[in-house]
Amino acid sequence: MLIQKMDNQARGITYYNDKIVFVNNALPNEDVDINIIIDKKRYSVANVAKYNKIDKNRIKTKCKYYGICGGCQLEHINYQDELEYKKNYLNDIFKVLGIKIDKIISSNDYGYRNKISLKVDNNKIGYNKLNSNEIISIDKCLIADNLINEKIKYLEYIDKNKVNEIIIKSFDNKVMLVLDGENNIDISKLINHFDTIYINDKLVCGDKIITTINSIKYYIAPNSFFQVNSNIAEKMFNYIKDICKKNNASRVIDLYCGCGSISLIIADIVDYVYGVELNKQSIIDANENKLLNNISNVEFKCDTTDNIEDINDFDNMIVDPPRNGLSKKVINKILSSNIKNIIYVSCDPITLRRDLLLLKDKYNIDNITTFDMFPNTYHVENVCTLSIK
Ligand SMILES: C[S@@+](CC[C@H](N)C(=O)[O-])C[C@H]1O[C@@H](n2cnc3c(N)ncnc32)[C@H](O)[C@@H]1O
Repeated sequence: MLIQKMDNQARGITYYNDKIVFVNNALPNEDVDINIIIDKKRYSVANVAKYNKIDKNRIKTKCKYYGICGGCQLEHINYQDELEYKKNYLNDIFKVLGIKIDKIISSNDYGYRNKISLKVDNNKIGYNKLNSNEIISIDKCLIADNLINEKIKYLEYIDKNKVNEIIIKSFDNKVMLVLDGENNIDISKLINHFDTIYINDKLVCGDKIITTINSIKYYIAPNSFFQVNSNIAEKMFNYIKDICKKNNASRVIDLYCGCGSISLIIADIVDYVYGVELNKQSIIDANENKLLNNISNVEFKCDTTDNIEDINDFDNMIVDPPRNGLSKKVINKILSSNIKNIIYVSCDPITLRRDLLLLKDKYNIDNITTFDMFPNTYHVENVCTLSIK
């Protein structure tokens, strides 16, 4: 079957009995035999059973788990082609907004992740298999930081019957191990190999890890959100700070503020920042980070963004929601506000487009800049700037 084009999840598209089929690891112009693994009423998902004709852009993959593990989808093309593919699919998505992406801010394509999350089941430690809940054991993850990879071999000392999930994080040459499971996991053979160990969110060995981005220090918490690609996060935060400067932002509301990463970075160029975040632990982290950096013009509130009030106290807004984007309530509050400028940070271009279409009568969509936070996967981070009409 001939693959006609690629969808925005890096799958090849073909048709079988008039039904659309999304084919993993298949490029346009390739002729493949397929193995259907998911069959729904309106679409199917398939793996390639045999490549009859291979596209000239296909390259040899480096990861031995590629195609079996569900983590990466774009290792079979080179990084320049990956950026071009991402630019093209984003331009398709954003066309209706009259927005064009010219360039994507690129990253190291391997070794960039500061965090991996491994599942433990059936005596195996690893990632979920592609399109499955089954676990594939791994001893290396090429998109993760080298230091993380050096430590994976020590996980064999863990009693797998007592652990459900393992997270390894690496920041500033320190490595953190986070174990989720029973409280009495034996870590005696691990303490020489990890700087810091947490069991069920409790620090059981070593000191808290601190990282610095753009001269702001952050405590790295075991379980709350932190951008996974520190290098690109720094570029993106600097970009957001520059936009705030350009906007002469004075009073900024930072919705979905996490551990205060963006709020604290812009604090020295604005009068006041108010961060709102649902996750209790993230707000504890944000307040600790505020103290760590001796910053006084930032306040954080633990609440859902649906409850925000007094929005007109602010001239600028930053939103960085999860993949499902902004709720109807938040959109309506923005539409009835006088907020002058909005910076919308998004990890899902489809929900970003949906929300921008709702905001566009009141706000100009000035620009979208794309940061390649997740090379070798189809995901990207977009930063959209809006100004009131
Ligand atoms: C993509 S993260 C952004 C975090 C932060 N801006 C950063 O760069 O580190 C999204 C955050 O939204 C929070 N969140 C999810 N739903 C929320 C809601 N309804 N109200 C407030 N925060 C929410 C999550 O806990 C998460 O910390």
